[in-house]
Amino acid sequence: MKILMVCLGNICRSPLAEGIFRQRLDEMQLEWEVDSAGTSGFHAGEQPDPRSIQVAEHHGLDIRNQASRPVRRDDFHAFDYIFAMDGANLQNLMEMNPAGNTNSRIHRFLEFAGDHTLDVPDPYYDDQGFAKVFQLLDKASDRVIQRIIEETGGMTEGVKTHMMSL
Ligand code: 4NP
Repeated sequence: MKILMVCLGNICRSPLAEGIFRQRLDEMQLEWEVDSAGTSGFHAGEQPDPRSIQVAEHHGLDIRNQASRPVRRDDFHAFDYIFAMDGANLQNLMEMNPAGNTNSRIHRFLEFAGDHTLDVPDPYYDDQGFAKVFQLLDKASDRVIQRIIEETGGMTEGVKTHMMSL
């Protein structure tokens, strides 16, 4: 399974989504791939925002090895799932691929998790927003993994053990 997390700059939200998701996949012994990208290339090549690095570190997660990149045309064929952090990201993704020519299932991350909050709010101009972003992503990640497994069939022993411990 290949999963792409998408936000605007790929420096605040989607790097956290990638880091949290990768940690969960490790815990469940799922050998899926996770990557992240931005609908803009404004910050291409940059490390995650220091505020994202800090909130991740606070939760024992190191995301410093990530580098921002823009969404590419072939992402729509390379990934099984593409998750947008908010409605604007989702709309931008649709506009990048107007013919709907894709192998990817494209959803808003929190909506896919069944959360009543639909958007992961952009924390770029809100220093206090990073903790909330982490919390929303953290809470939704298990449910997203569970739903992907339901949609694609089969639950491994590692996942069962993890889900029973929740
Ligand atoms: P992100 O946050 O989309 O979560 O990475 C932002 C990063 C940069 C900008 C906006 C949002 N910006 O305007 O440069």
